[in-house]
Amino acid sequence: MYCVKKISEDITWIGANDRRLALFENAHPIPRGVSYNSYFINGDKTVVLDTVDRAVGERFFENLSHVLGGRELNYVIVQHMEPDHCATLGELLMRYPEATVVANQKTLTMIKQFFDMDIDSRVHLVKEGDILDTGRHKLSFYMAPMVHWPEVMVTYDSEEKVLFSADAFGSFGAINGNLFADEVNFEMDWLPDARRYYTNIVGKYGAQVTALLNKASALDIKTICPLHGPVWRENLGWFIEKYSKWAAWEPEEKGVLIAYGSIYGNTENAADILASKLADKGVKNISVYDVSATDPSYILADAFRFSHIVFASSTYNNGIFLRMETLLLDLAAHLLQNRTLAFIENGSWVPVSGKLMREIMAPMKNMNVLDCGVTIKSSVKAQQEIELDALANEIIASMK
Ligand code: FEO
Repeated sequence: MYCVKKISEDITWIGANDRRLALFENAHPIPRGVSYNSYFINGDKTVVLDTVDRAVGERFFENLSHVLGGRELNYVIVQHMEPDHCATLGELLMRYPEATVVANQKTLTMIKQFFDMDIDSRVHLVKEGDILDTGRHKLSFYMAPMVHWPEVMVTYDSEEKVLFSADAFGSFGAINGNLFADEVNFEMDWLPDARRYYTNIVGKYGAQVTALLNKASALDIKTICPLHGPVWRENLGWFIEKYSKWAAWEPEEKGVLIAYGSIYGNTENAADILASKLADKGVKNISVYDVSATDPSYILADAFRFSHIVFASSTYNNGIFLRMETLLLDLAAHLLQNRTLAFIENGSWVPVSGKLMREIMAPMKNMNVLDCGVTIKSSVKAQQEIELDALANEIIASMK
């Protein structure tokens, strides 16, 4: 049975939810599920914007059949060729042989890479600024390379002032009945997953996201329809502001993220002592994560959120504790910058993790590394307690 959501008289969400998938892109946990958003415009012509992941194809085709109500499908606009949005494109084109594919040249190349079918005879190629006149809905296209793949483009409907934003402004999380961001407590219930989605999936491409935001600022936008998560029709500026900060690798708030890798609990002890001292000295925003217990996608998201990051790691086989090394390499791969950093190392033989962690962070832009590193030999003693106190003071001084 179909399950669709009206956005306006002409525009309908025809996507579907997946609450069974454990790992998005087989990498990032999604305990709240994910939605694959597809949109239908029922105007003088009929238009579908993107398809869905294979896992929810059955629901999508029921939805599409319902909204078409016996009409022909005239156009399918392919904004993004990642399989979470295009895996069912081939089947759609078989089911609706009259439909024209609207795509840019890079998309066309990728369609041929993913599918074996005659696409040249039914493609309408578009480029930056082109307009597809479908009657009352005039759809214009803006290229958004690397938001999040090279072929990505977004679509603007000047009739209803809707931006179909592809992966931009998306979020992890299934749609639980309410499609619109203003119908849920987005800041409390969705923002952490929206941040985790952005930072992990698109976070590396901040410069390209900023370019898209600049293009979008020239448009009169009333509604944003992303490919995942809620649709925005109110308070757009609040969410765009978040995107501006994330895209510029600018901290959202002053606060301290402490990530520790601890084998027998002694490095954890140092992390907890530091967090406690910071709290006693008045710092309110503190997150402490055990890198062995928390998936890196969550810690990376908080690294984009907070101004200060402390890495505390055991030395392991004369290297960095492996899961800490994974986190650091992940942060480096996402080009994290503009942060204040501090390091705590531990080792029972020769503590070297501090030096090695600094080396991974060294090439990263605009990082302020605090002088007060702390070295522990096996367990925290009186001297390290003093050093942790000094580190807490230095962190607080650097926040002013
Ligand atoms: Fe939701 Fe980049 O795909």
